Amino acid sequence: MATAGDGVRRELEQRREAARLGGGPERIERQHRAGKLTARERLEVLLDEGSFHELDMFVTSPPGEFGSRQIPGDGVVTGYGLIEGRKVYVFSQDFTVFGGSLSLAHAQKICKIMDRALKAGLPLIGLNDSGGARIQEGVVSLGGYADIFLRNTLCSGVIPQISAVLGPCAGGAVYSPAITDFILMTAETSTLYVTGPKVVKTVTHEEISHQELGGAQVHGSKSGVAHFVEDNDIACLERVRELLGYLPSNNRVEPPRCPSDDPPERLVSELATLIPAQPNQPYDMHQVLSAVLDEGRFLEVHRDYARNIIVGLGHLNGRSVGLVANQPDVFAGVLDIDASLKAARFVRFCDCFNIPIITFVDVPGFLPGTDQEWRGIIKHGAKLLYAYAEATVPKLTMITRKAYGGAYDVMSSKHIRGDFNFAWPTAEIAVMGPPGAVEIIYRQEIAQAEDPQALIEKFTAEYRQKFANPYIAAERGYIDDVIDPPQTRAVLSGALEMLSSKRDHNPWKKHGNIPL
Ligand code: HXC
Repeated sequence: MATAGDGVRRELEQRREAARLGGGPERIERQHRAGKLTARERLEVLLDEGSFHELDMFVTSPPGEFGSRQIPGDGVVTGYGLIEGRKVYVFSQDFTVFGGSLSLAHAQKICKIMDRALKAGLPLIGLNDSGGARIQEGVVSLGGYADIFLRNTLCSGVIPQISAVLGPCAGGAVYSPAITDFILMTAETSTLYVTGPKVVKTVTHEEISHQELGGAQVHGSKSGVAHFVEDNDIACLERVRELLGYLPSNNRVEPPRCPSDDPPERLVSELATLIPAQPNQPYDMHQVLSAVLDEGRFLEVHRDYARNIIVGLGHLNGRSVGLVANQPDVFAGVLDIDASLKAARFVRFCDCFNIPIITFVDVPGFLPGTDQEWRGIIKHGAKLLYAYAEATVPKLTMITRKAYGGAYDVMSSKHIRGDFNFAWPTAEIAVMGPPGAVEIIYRQEIAQAEDPQALIEKFTAEYRQKFANPYIAAERGYIDDVIDPPQTRAVLSGALEMLSSKRDHNPWKKHGNIPL
C-alpha cells in the first residue's frame, strides 16, 4: 500500500536529481568535450569515496531580470568530506549553471562553509570554474565576492586554504584564490586574469589569446601566481590530496606524522662527492633534497618560477618540513626579486602552520644591476629577511658551499634565530667571494704589479684559505657544527627531534609591517 512517505521521498529524490543535473545534459556534455570534469565529478576525485555531504543543494537565486532561470544549487556545490580520513570543507563551482558565475546566493553558500571551516579549524578547498560576477545581478554579485575576500583574509594563517583553478577565473574573482595559500591550475583548461583578451585589446591594443594572457604556463613560470601546474583535472585534484598530507588542519595543531621505514640516521654517501672541485661549477641542489628526505620524496612548490631558489615540502623522520634551498644550477643560485618573493611567501606559510623550515644555502649574494635595483630588490629582498626573522617555527640551516654577504644573513642565519646552523666543510662564509674581495682590498698592489694576474691568483688563494671556509663562523658559534656531508640526514633528523618542543614568541603587536 502506498504511504504518504513514498510521495515525499519521491519528491525529495526528484528535487535532488534536478540539482545534480545542474545546467543539464547538453552543458555537461560540453564540459566533458572541453576536457573538464563536472563540479560533482571533481568532488568524487578529490574526496575519500562516499565521504561527501552536500549542503544547500536547494538554494537558488530569486528570479531576476534578463530572464535568468532558477537552478537548484545556483552554480556551486558546497559541503564537507574527508581526504585521507581528514575533515575538509569544499566548494566546487558548476560551470554548467550560468557558467559557474557568482550570484549573491552562490556567494552565501561559499561564505557559509568558510565560516564553518574557520570555526572548526578545518582546511578549505575551493574548485574554481567560473565566468566571474553574475552579470544579471550587478552590484549584489560584487558584494558577494567581497564577502568571500574578507573571509579568505580572516582565514589566512588560521586554516590552510587551497584553490584549484580548473576553468576560467576572471575579473575580481581572481582575488579569492590569490589570497589563499596555494593555487593549482590545469595546463590547458584554466585561465586566471584580471581583464580578458577583449578588454586588453581595447585598452592596450595587444592581441593575445586567453592562454597566453593568463594560462597555467604563464602563471606557473612568469608571474608565479600558480604554485602547481597539472596536466588535467584528475592530476590536479590528486595533487591537492597530496599537498594536504603535509599540512595541519589549522594553526593550533601540528601537521600529521607520516611514518616511514626510512631510518632517520641513514647515511647519504652520495653527498660526499656532490660539490664540484671548482667553486664556480654548478650542481643540482635537488640531489641534496631527495637524498636527505624520507624515501627521497619532495613535493616542489613553484617548480618553474624563480628556479634559482627551490621551495617545497617533504618529511624528515616522519615530520612535515618546509625546504628552502638556493639552486646553484640556475643563475648560480643568486637571490633576485622573484626568488626573494617566492621564498618569503613560503617561509611565512610554513611559519603560519607549524612546519619547521630547513634551509640549504649555496648563494653568491643578491643579484646586482639596474634592473633589480630599480624594481626594488631592496624591498623585495627585505621580505625574505623579514620572513625568516619573524618565523618562530624550528629553523635548521645547512650551508653546503657559498654564503656570501647579506645573503648569508638572510638565509636563516644564527643571527636571525636559526636554531641549528650547520655547514659542510666545503662552506665558504665571507663578506664576498674571493675575486671581488681581492680586487677591492688589494687594488693598489695589483695596479702596481708587473704580473697582475699572478698576484691576483696568489691573493685569491690566500683569501680563500683564510676566509672562504666554515671555521671562522664556527669559531664564533655562528655555525653550531661542521659536518661530513653523508651525515646530513642524520644530523638534521636529530636536530629536528630536539626542536619538537620548541616554543618561541614575537613581541605583542597588531601585526608587523613587512615591506610590501
Ligand atoms: C552570467 C555567464 C557569465 C557571467 C558566462 N556566463 N559568464 N552568465 N554571468 N559572468 C554564461 C553564458 O551566458 C553561457 O550561458 C554559459 O555561462 C557559458 O558561457 P560561454 O560563453 O558559452 O562559455 P565559453 O565559451 O566557454 O566562455 C567562457 C568565458 C565567457 C570565457 C568565461 O563566458 C566569458 O567571457 N564570460 C564573461 C567573463 C567576464 O567578463 N566576467 C565578468 C568579469 S568581472 P548558457 O546559458 O549559454 O550556457 C568580474 C568582477 C568581479 O567578475 C569583481 C569582484 C570584485
